[in-house]
Amino acid sequence: MGPLSIVSLTFMSCIVLLIAEQPFNHCTCRGRVLNCRRRYFYRYRIGNEEDATASPQEGATPNGSVPRLDVQTICPGATDVQLSNLNLRAFPGGLDEENITKIDLSGNLITALPDAGMLGPDVKRLDLSANAIEAPVAEAGAEAQLRPLGALEELLLGWNRLRHLSFLPAPCGLRRLQLTVNFIDRLDGGWLRRCALLESLTLLANNVSALPAGAFAGLGHLRELTLSMNPVQELSDRTFDGLSQLESLRMKNTRLATLPNNAFASLRHLDLLELSDNPFASLPPHAFRGLVNLRSLDLNNALHNVTLNENLFSELRNLRKLFLDRNSLTFLPNNIFHQQNLLEELHLQSNQISHVSENTFTSLRNLKVLRLDRNHFAEMPGSIICNLPLLQELQMPYNRLTTLPDLAGCQSLRTANFFNNSVAAPSEALVRAALARGPRDVGLEGNPVRASSLRWVLRASGVEAFARDCACGGVRSRSSGAEVRFCVVAPCGPPTPFVSWMEAVAAAN
Ligand SMILES: *[C@@H]1O[C@H](CO)[C@@H](O)[C@H](O)[C@H]1NC(C)=O
Ligand SMILES: *[C@@H]1O[C@H](CO)[C@@H](O)[C@H](O)[C@H]1NC(C)=O
Ligand SMILES: *[C@@H]1O[C@H](CO)[C@@H](O)[C@H](O)[C@H]1NC(C)=O
Ligand SMILES: *[C@@H]1O[C@H](CO)[C@@H](O)[C@H](O)[C@H]1NC(C)=O
Ligand SMILES: *[C@@H]1O[C@H](CO)[C@@H](O)[C@H](O)[C@H]1NC(C)=O
Repeated sequence: MGPLSIVSLTFMSCIVLLIAEQPFNHCTCRGRVLNCRRRYFYRYRIGNEEDATASPQEGATPNGSVPRLDVQTICPGATDVQLSNLNLRAFPGGLDEENITKIDLSGNLITALPDAGMLGPDVKRLDLSANAIEAPVAEAGAEAQLRPLGALEELLLGWNRLRHLSFLPAPCGLRRLQLTVNFIDRLDGGWLRRCALLESLTLLANNVSALPAGAFAGLGHLRELTLSMNPVQELSDRTFDGLSQLESLRMKNTRLATLPNNAFASLRHLDLLELSDNPFASLPPHAFRGLVNLRSLDLNNALHNVTLNENLFSELRNLRKLFLDRNSLTFLPNNIFHQQNLLEELHLQSNQISHVSENTFTSLRNLKVLRLDRNHFAEMPGSIICNLPLLQELQMPYNRLTTLPDLAGCQSLRTANFFNNSVAAPSEALVRAALARGPRDVGLEGNPVRASSLRWVLRASGVEAFARDCACGGVRSRSSGAEVRFCVVAPCGPPTPFVSWMEAVAAAN
């Protein structure tokens, strides 16, 4: 019985089928695409320590022999060969034909990279994701392993068991290298430097803790680098030296507690910097110096223990999106956004800010979206909002506002959301100010609005009332179409016309 003895009889026939089926029994040819599927397959997943030590179970070639695929017979002239989820334990033979440009071997049980000569001369993309590949011990011979892959541009090796990068050939023509979820723990040894043409490198969820000076030296074509979910504790001000074309750097959820001054100074072309979910305890004033082209900076959930220096962002003159949400910030230094006159979105939701001074936001001449949700604001002077000439969307739900801000002077505002605040009696003047320009949508749902405070609406001119359901409705400007919506605390019945609803709840109050 061997391995079958460990499974119950109930599953036996299924397992027998798995073993009996040959890997290439169900191949089809459509145009130049050769696709082989199994009717029954067992997808082996890897991704944590436990999986890494477990040995692969059932396979189609249990004796470890290398299966051979006769590409030319099944699909003459095939360029695209799809062999995913076939339980292959070894790199198949027959893939050395010319004209094959793409090979998908993801989700198999392959343990080693292909030997020299196993790939055809035209292969540009090789997908070996979700296998069980281990890099050979870094010996001189092992380094040559991918040497013949002259044409290969894209190599996908995510969800394998790689511990280092010594398998990279020299020279290496790769443009894209995907290494998500492996066990790579160091980038030294100059291995990356062999792939001087790399444009995209993903090391998401590996075990890299040190990024010394020059870790990426020689990668002058790299445009995207992802290091998120590695235990990186420290950067040098020279870690990113040489990445003169880098456009996006993702370092979400690493373990950075601080940054050196000039950490990113060599990244003149950087457009996107993601540093969310890091436990920063301090950020020096020139941490972001040199990022003159940065357009998006994400510091979401990263500044819980940081006192913001008012010069922190002073060189980020091209910034369009800034994420400072989920940070327990209690205040914003007056001049912190002084250089951000191109900023379009400012995300400050889920902090503990209760007050901003009149000029904190005055430089934000291009701001379109302001998120202040879930803070501690008890008031918000309308002038602070209306001084933002292009503001289209204001989000302030879950604050402590007791009055509606005066929005009369807000030229561009389209949406203002004040859900779940403490506005009990929105005054006629402020509701009319909110309706002053249209089309506009002002939400006061979730506030403890007293119906009696809205009696004026029943007699008002220029506005009409509407009901959405038994307790919610609003007021609409007849001329502009702008509307303010609210709900009142009231017993619920079937939807009724707003006037009778208003009269009923006004009387009930
Ligand atoms: C290995 O198994 C395959 C089928 O699974 C069979 O064709 C082949 O002859 C076997 N090789 C050896 C050496 O037993
Ligand atoms: C590869 O493509 C060329 C040009 O389309 C063709 O002449 C040649 O026969 C093909 N080779 C194979 C092995 O299909
Ligand atoms: C990650 O690296 C540390 C040493 O830096 C090592 O102790 C640990 O076992 C590694 N973890 C994995 C999953 O390889
Ligand atoms: C902030 O610092 C304190 C003490 O230095 C520490 O206990 C706490 O975990 C830190 N909080 C975060 C979110 O990093
Ligand atoms: C917040 O307001 C929304 C919209 O009216 C409402 O659906 C939700 O129940 C409110 N949440 C709380 C906690 O009051």
